[in-house]
Amino acid sequence: MNDIKNPKKKFKKTERVPPEGYDSSNDFFEDVFMDKDMIWMGQNTNHLHGDIIADAMASCVMEKEYSKYPPPEGFSELRQLILDDLNVKNCEVLLTAGATESLYLCMQALLEPDDNVVLSDPGYFIIGDFANRFANEVRYVPIYNEECGYKLTPKLLRENMDENTKMVILIDPLNPLGSAYTEDELKEFAEIAIENDLYLLHDVTYKDFARQHFSAEDYAPGQTLTIYSFSKIFGMAGLRIGSVVSSKAIIDVIKNAVVNDLGVNIIAQYGAIAGLKSKDEWEDKIRDISFTNQKLIKEMIDEIDGVFLPVYPSDANMMAVDVSGAGINPKELSNYLFKRGIFAREGEYTSELFGDKYLRISFSIPTEEIEIFCEEFPKAIEALRQK
Ligand SMILES: Cc1ncc(COP(=O)(O)O)c(C=O)c1O
Repeated sequence: MNDIKNPKKKFKKTERVPPEGYDSSNDFFEDVFMDKDMIWMGQNTNHLHGDIIADAMASCVMEKEYSKYPPPEGFSELRQLILDDLNVKNCEVLLTAGATESLYLCMQALLEPDDNVVLSDPGYFIIGDFANRFANEVRYVPIYNEECGYKLTPKLLRENMDENTKMVILIDPLNPLGSAYTEDELKEFAEIAIENDLYLLHDVTYKDFARQHFSAEDYAPGQTLTIYSFSKIFGMAGLRIGSVVSSKAIIDVIKNAVVNDLGVNIIAQYGAIAGLKSKDEWEDKIRDISFTNQKLIKEMIDEIDGVFLPVYPSDANMMAVDVSGAGINPKELSNYLFKRGIFAREGEYTSELFGDKYLRISFSIPTEEIEIFCEEFPKAIEALRQK
């Protein structure tokens, strides 16, 4: 059926089965959101901030700055602070409603119907869904194994690309596994990109949780798209602010595709400026708590038969916990934990191929909550284990 009252879906989007007892995923999320006691380990968000960012936004609200439109391309102070944070040269910044909008605009502005794009599985599938709308094909490369270090490698890229490949997507560190790229790997990706005229889309949403981080822009200038988010280390997921950083020529083309022509949320911009200016004051503390938390989780997991962490330490604020050796379905596990006040994510959110093997948990939350998780998780495993 395809009349105007029953239009056909124009785009392919990864469909999600709503969790047990819910008609839609939105109803589920709304319930989770409204439960103030829920331990929030399902969205890689950060719940460890003090008041600096909140105060800057509160004063923007109190002065009713929000009654005006912001400058359409964002405050120049904010754009400069992002460039300083990334430490990249000869680049421009386009501010968007979250990194998500940047990802969409990159795909819309740069991909053609004959192109293909290379992305890892596991990975962050919204990126693939966006690419699918404008390119011919998204090539998902299986990377859930030790041999490749649980990440896309230059070798795997070479094996999976052809003359129609236009873009390679590097999520660094990777959602959901927390694997990150070394400088040598990024250099090699850059060489491939330069030799073959590819865009390197470097999604650095989780960069500030990593032990070390390198910039693809340094090695493939003029063809790298750096995707930058305020949702994770800045703890501003609900504010919906992010950006894409690239050469002026590329940003000009992406700007041409902009929908949100009247600018990005002004309260979020004030918060982002305050966050970047004060980063030295809070960043180490958040990183330290996150590392302590993942260590506690690791010690707990090491005691359980049939369960392991594919990547440890994780360079992000989340990790995958493989439960396949205990014969456990991750969806049942997340339902079980949910009923005990812990929100985590089954693997199918980030993998078509391996989603039945792992649960994804994020740990940039107070350590007392991690301790509750560490008590509940072994009990959940024993309750669900296939003997
Ligand atoms: C790799 C990756 N990129 C982008 C995003 C979305 O970021 P934002 O909240 O800034 O839209 C996420 C969210 O989890 C992510 O995991």
